Amino acid sequence: MSRPDGCKAFYPGLLDAPTMSQQSGLQREPLLDSLRKELDGLDRDNLLWRIRILQSPSAPHAKVDGKNVLVLCSNNYLGLANHPKLKQAAIAATRKYGAGSGSVRVIAGTMDLHLKLEKILANYRNAESSITFQSGYATNAGTILALVDERDLIISDELNHGSIIDGCRMTKAERRVYKHRDMADLEKQLADTDHFRRVLIITDGVFSMDGDIAPLKEIVDLALEHQAITYVDDAHGDGVLGQNGRGITNHFGLEGKVDVDMGTFSKAFGCVGGYVVGSKDLCTYLQNKVRSYLLSGSQPPAVPGACIAAIQLVQKTPALVRKLWDNTRYFKKGLKDLGFDIGNSETPITPVMVGESRRAHKLADSLFKLGVFVLPIVFPMVAKDKARIRTIVTSAHTKKDLDEALEAFEKAGKEMALL
Ligand SMILES: Cc1ncc(COP(=O)(O)O)c(C=O)c1O
Repeated sequence: MSRPDGCKAFYPGLLDAPTMSQQSGLQREPLLDSLRKELDGLDRDNLLWRIRILQSPSAPHAKVDGKNVLVLCSNNYLGLANHPKLKQAAIAATRKYGAGSGSVRVIAGTMDLHLKLEKILANYRNAESSITFQSGYATNAGTILALVDERDLIISDELNHGSIIDGCRMTKAERRVYKHRDMADLEKQLADTDHFRRVLIITDGVFSMDGDIAPLKEIVDLALEHQAITYVDDAHGDGVLGQNGRGITNHFGLEGKVDVDMGTFSKAFGCVGGYVVGSKDLCTYLQNKVRSYLLSGSQPPAVPGACIAAIQLVQKTPALVRKLWDNTRYFKKGLKDLGFDIGNSETPITPVMVGESRRAHKLADSLFKLGVFVLPIVFPMVAKDKARIRTIVTSAHTKKDLDEALEAFEKAGKEMALL
């Protein structure tokens, strides 16, 4: 163990004296040795992330690890990440307001641009108010923690996103998990809850690994019956579901009926940042209580600038969402006709079920060699025997792109005896 020289000069004999652990015989494994062992274990089980590097904008055709490929794994649903209108807005906001915001929102980091975004967002989502955060992760982690404590109960779908799970774990609330989209099980979990101050039912809107949609109407009905609060994470429904991409609450005619309607700008809106839309009181409460809002610097001006441009563009261009759904239907049908098992997806997230993790990696590698970039989803993100390739089409893909992708899937699928 090394100690700064100054220590020895100040406390002569310090380095020579036996430490407490030497006296007690305690032998802790050095940190780096134990980290290396864990990494070796992950490597052995094929679970290490092999991160591919994008060397061009996020777009259907991109340069990845030095190779020109067709991208089928971004969350850039509406193709806005590299849209000229968003880039211009980000540049204009940077010119006017600078590169950084200078502070957290509640001290000196709220610019009129942040407020403009919140107003435009609330208006777009037909909500009374909205509040924005640095990311969707920060939104879930901070908002759940702000809403419940040891007097409360959270009831969560078993396949909810990790940011929800982390948010739930941070609270002192009791937790129950219901089987995926299983309303009979949710009802069972709602029994014997009278002694809790609050009961929070929380669900993804669109499930990120399977592409299926939460039965939100039934959840809201059960919540009303049991005086529970509802919270939906619409990260993959924003810009995708509902009229002009207004999300899952619009899709089911439930605007204003879900207590906490959460979303993100990092997917269909092509930027970054999370948000909650809802009542004015809810948003003011979150402003005062969410620790990720109170304790972390606000978004640089380019971000609200580009997010505003994204919402305006989506509102003005219904063809974007229409094309996304045309492409989704076309690609799903193509995969199905080839004979792939594509699970129960109802959205542009289309899994191609493979089985073992090793085979999912192999299929992704073969497709990459054929010029198609997709993501293998393996344990622990999904069950050990449910590894898959996750594909996501966008409205920026052409039919020719999708035909090329299907050709590559057919070739790689036959090689692996999946077809
Ligand atoms: C369902 C869901 N919720 C929340 C998030 C986090 O959003 P963000 O990327 O804005 O942090 C994600 C992103 O991966 C997600 O898929």
